[in-house]
Amino acid sequence: MSSTAVPAGETQGGAALIDGKAFAAGLRGRVAAAVEKLKAEQGLTPGLAVVLVGEDPASQVYVRSKGKQTLEAGMNSFEHKLDASASQETLLAKVAELNADPAVHGILVQLPLPPQIDSQTVIAAIDPDKDVDGFHVINAGRLMTGGKGAEAPLVPCTPLGCLMLLKDRLGDLSGLNAVVVGRSNIVGKPMAQLLLAESCTVTVAHSRTKDLPAVCRGADILVAAVGRPEMVKGDWVKPGATVIDVGINRIDAGGGKTRLVGDVAFDEAAAVAGAITPVPGGVGPMTIAVLLANTVTAACRQAGIPAPELG
Ligand code: GUN
Repeated sequence: MSSTAVPAGETQGGAALIDGKAFAAGLRGRVAAAVEKLKAEQGLTPGLAVVLVGEDPASQVYVRSKGKQTLEAGMNSFEHKLDASASQETLLAKVAELNADPAVHGILVQLPLPPQIDSQTVIAAIDPDKDVDGFHVINAGRLMTGGKGAEAPLVPCTPLGCLMLLKDRLGDLSGLNAVVVGRSNIVGKPMAQLLLAESCTVTVAHSRTKDLPAVCRGADILVAAVGRPEMVKGDWVKPGATVIDVGINRIDAGGGKTRLVGDVAFDEAAAVAGAITPVPGGVGPMTIAVLLANTVTAACRQAGIPAPELG
């Protein structure tokens, strides 16, 4: 049976399903309420600018979805499209223009970028206080050093969404063994930092880890973010563990069809885990909802007013 056959909120093979779709809807509702209050009480309308270079179909879908959800939350949405052949200089000039625009509180340059553009150079050019992706080294450093107040980081959306789901499910995470499989700058590394800040004992595992199944079996919290379809097997999961599957992989389903699967072999893992995120409907819907929340946070900080608690 596929995960999509299980109604949200129900259990499969013993594990509770963590309903990211429902949590994301709730978060978007809290964001919209916060935006309404900011408009009424502060005359402040948060604005998110998204820059898309080229015509990658998946990126176009993401960008359209971000624009739609930004408007639905009552915020201003600014979309900037550049040709696939645009130079790095042109993109840097666009970023500089958005950095200087007071109506823009969040800037997201959609990745991946065409080969003539170095993404690290572009990310470094974004004002860290408008970096709603949380990819700038200043934000990575603030996350690592536990910055508070004016030094609080903007945190990458996907790992922050995973943390929200974990805290909603488990409450206090302190003392738990967390294993993060994957060491990307976008998910694995910030996820590890967030879990460490919650006083978990954190292991970051990756493709070179010796006896990865045994390492995973020690996890009370297992986060899979490797981009390999169904790599994490049922016998890698500690009984009762909470499993967060960040993977979104399209695989051949036979008969000319495809289907989406995560990095976790769902049916096997759900038979052992205490709770698990499905794919689709788990982590995926959280990313844009957290992006909206980060935009509200960024707008409040830029206006010098306290940011609402949205998570
Ligand atoms: N491409 C796919 N996901 C993302 C994301 O979260 N941020 C950016 N900037 N690009 C992406």
